[in-house]
Amino acid sequence: MSQAPDYTDKIPNNVGLREDRRLQRALESWQPNFLNWWESMGPTLPTQDVYLRTAVNVGREGWAHFAHVPMPDYRWGIFLAEQDPNRQIGFGQHKGEPAWQQIPGEYRSDLLRLIVIQGDTEPASVEQQRNLGATAPSLYDLRNLFQVNVEEGRHLWAMVYLLHAYFGREGREEAEELLHRNSGSQDAPRILGAFNEETPDWLSFYMFTYFTDRDGKYQLGTLKESAFDPLSRTCEFMLKEEAHHMMVGTTGVDRVVERTAQVMVENDTDDVAARGVIPLPVIQKYLNFHYSVSLDLFGGETSTNVANYYTAGLKGRWSEERRQDDHRLTDDAMMVDALVDAGNGQQSITEVEVAALTGLNTDLRRQYIADCRGGVNRWNKILADAGLAHRLSLPHIAFNRRVGAFAAVTATPAGELIPADEWQRRQGEWLPTDVDKIHVRSLMRPVHERGKIAAWIAPPRNGINGKPFDYDYVHLA
Ligand SMILES: [Fe+2]
Ligand SMILES: [Fe+2]
Repeated sequence: MSQAPDYTDKIPNNVGLREDRRLQRALESWQPNFLNWWESMGPTLPTQDVYLRTAVNVGREGWAHFAHVPMPDYRWGIFLAEQDPNRQIGFGQHKGEPAWQQIPGEYRSDLLRLIVIQGDTEPASVEQQRNLGATAPSLYDLRNLFQVNVEEGRHLWAMVYLLHAYFGREGREEAEELLHRNSGSQDAPRILGAFNEETPDWLSFYMFTYFTDRDGKYQLGTLKESAFDPLSRTCEFMLKEEAHHMMVGTTGVDRVVERTAQVMVENDTDDVAARGVIPLPVIQKYLNFHYSVSLDLFGGETSTNVANYYTAGLKGRWSEERRQDDHRLTDDAMMVDALVDAGNGQQSITEVEVAALTGLNTDLRRQYIADCRGGVNRWNKILADAGLAHRLSLPHIAFNRRVGAFAAVTATPAGELIPADEWQRRQGEWLPTDVDKIHVRSLMRPVHERGKIAAWIAPPRNGINGKPFDYDYVHLA
């Protein structure tokens, strides 16, 4: 059973930290290192306090508390979703057996790897976003940025708890490494490519929270199915917070598109760069970039590692329990996207049949892509409602890839394979150029005045926690 968290504890938690002195001491000795990391790699804009949501419980009757808090005093806690004492493993060779409360020795190193990879993304995004406060379009947006940042910090805590509690000395060493690697570092970069990219402007931030945080949602969704119950419960609770991050991305892009559409209609022109907003083709290029680097996070189209993780019960599928099959997949096949030799020295994009277990990355990626279409549809509805014929779209899976089958080729957003020299010549049509980036950055002048908003973005429909848009969400230092 989970206990109610005690906020007099240094580390608020519902994992009974008080009863485990050794673990408590280990985490308390990691805490100052975390705070040092936050000070040196976290948000750079000085603030007095921010109107933040803090996780205080996991129950249905409300888990969050809202108040103005100085960010370094934020209570990063450890919260696992409620335990189901009868939970059974839902898939793989151990299907139907009781979920594990301890890690079976044979799966220790694989689970460690999965937790470290997930954990590495959490502080990485804080690092990527650290300078955005200086150019926030409103106090509302500034507050949302910091909310996302503190919660990614809490997600790091969530993973570090698992490392400390279940992986002994190796886990403690990995917990230190999570603070030593840094986004974009030459010597010690973050593990995954998308988390070493810059987030230099707010359009990138909204695209990141839409596309890359959404990848996080799908990864957490597979770990939520894990036979290792503490990991499952940790991820279930993280998913609750993640929903807000994606809301920030979804509505952020909504508001950029809405404002651009307004200015296009008012001036009856597509050529709006000089009118202080972001032209639709530039929005499309940012979308192309963030979507394609996020697809890389799903790994190769086929993977025997992931097949083994599934069979072992470490990592399931998205919505595992809703799938209408035997949840073992040993006899099943599926079609995955692939590149094949078309004879005559040419390659072509097609699908090939593989064992269902080895195609699980593709399965997850397809769930993600279907979800991403929802965003594009909603942005296109904004354009349609404004009376514009322009539409945004997701590029083809072969476009701008560094990982998987399509890393070997160059393709247009429509999925047409083109020679590398043509790609070199034309990539500026599809990905943000320096000119595009400089234009977007030129619009990023801070609006830190209560109730005001930058001219390149529409105000939000709703404030936070029932507060109005012109609420004093942040007090700057
Ligand atoms: Fe996260
Ligand atoms: Fe997130």
